[in-house]
Amino acid sequence: MLKKSILKISLIAGIGLVSSGVYAADVNNGKTLHQSKCYQCHAEKSGLGNGDIIYTRSDRKVKDIQRLKTQVSMCNTQLRLDLFPEDEADLVAYLNQQFYKFK
Ligand code: HEC
Repeated sequence: MLKKSILKISLIAGIGLVSSGVYAADVNNGKTLHQSKCYQCHAEKSGLGNGDIIYTRSDRKVKDIQRLKTQVSMCNTQLRLDLFPEDEADLVAYLNQQFYKFK
């Protein structure tokens, strides 16, 4: 009985999320995830010991918000970092606020 109502509640919450179409991204979560999952490798790959430079280098790949989403998703999938879509959205929000500043 209890199980059933929990299921019901999560179903309703899930539908609410989808139908509203708006997920309020959590920039702080994005920042934490970035520190723990992304920074180190970018620091090593750029050879500069700083994981933020990859986003601001003059020949950076990401030129718009769509490309940013694609790239975050690519790094996540290719490297099997196991992030949820919400985590990706948080990372995109953090990177955009901090570095890219797309509208
Ligand atoms: C194991 C290494 C590694 C990890 C971990 C990693 N990345 Fe990357 N990432 C790269 C490399 C290498 C590039 C540069 C690709 C290129 O220049 O073509 C890159 C590029 C990017 C770029 C594009 C930068 C630009 O040019 O504008 C974004 C955005 C990005 N990564 C996001 C992330 C996020 C978010 C995470 C963590 C969830 C992450 N990456 C984790 C290796 C990694």
